Amino acid sequence: MKINTAEFIISNSEVSKCPNEPLPEYAFIGRSNVGKSSLINMLTERKKLAKTSARPGKTQLINHFKINSNWYLVDLPGYGYAKVSKKTKAVFQQFITDYFEKREQLVCAFVLIDIRLEAQKIDLEFITYLGETEVPFCIIFTKADKIGKSKIASNIAAYKKQLLANNWAEIPQYFVTSSSEGTGRDEILEFIDGVNED
Ligand code: GTP
Ligand code: MG
Repeated sequence: MKINTAEFIISNSEVSKCPNEPLPEYAFIGRSNVGKSSLINMLTERKKLAKTSARPGKTQLINHFKINSNWYLVDLPGYGYAKVSKKTKAVFQQFITDYFEKREQLVCAFVLIDIRLEAQKIDLEFITYLGETEVPFCIIFTKADKIGKSKIASNIAAYKKQLLANNWAEIPQYFVTSSSEGTGRDEILEFIDGVNED
């Protein structure tokens, strides 16, 4: 798929204020600093469309970007930073859970996971939450440029094991990406194209 236009439309913290056109949208979620905003820039080939930062906590609102005038990419704040709960079970920000529970235009969530790390409790909890909420999702492993190919394969294998141990009967579709090198771009855009055409 070719990206002809990519425009920022609106930022807000209320699902009711998100664009109300019936266009399909894809949301990026994951721990702060995992690379959600960078991935949106990589996919759209616009370096500054979504704001990024080396410091976690940069994206604070729900951000809608309209692509080719007929679908949306949605950048969300990260979880797992500043607002982490002291309880054993993570509590995700209310407006984020509202988004996943109420947003009818959402057709697929992309859960971003740093490929260098072992499965993190908060990510597994969020994935479980999406499953319970019946939100379709894929996994995107990020920052693949930071480790070698064999390590990528063994880390993904370890992640699959963790998901199976967390009662997932099958592994969701996943992508391996690097925003600095453009890895995974074609695969993700092709996937989105396929869903948009359904
Ligand atoms: P929050 O908005 O704070 O939740 O973070 P985010 O998930 O949007 O992360 P962001 O895209 O702002 O990137 C965080 C840092 O990781 C930045 O310094 C990016 O340059 C870096 N980064 C993101 N993706 C990649 C990648 O694929 N490779 C490398 N090497 N660095 C990356
Ligand atoms: Mg961000």
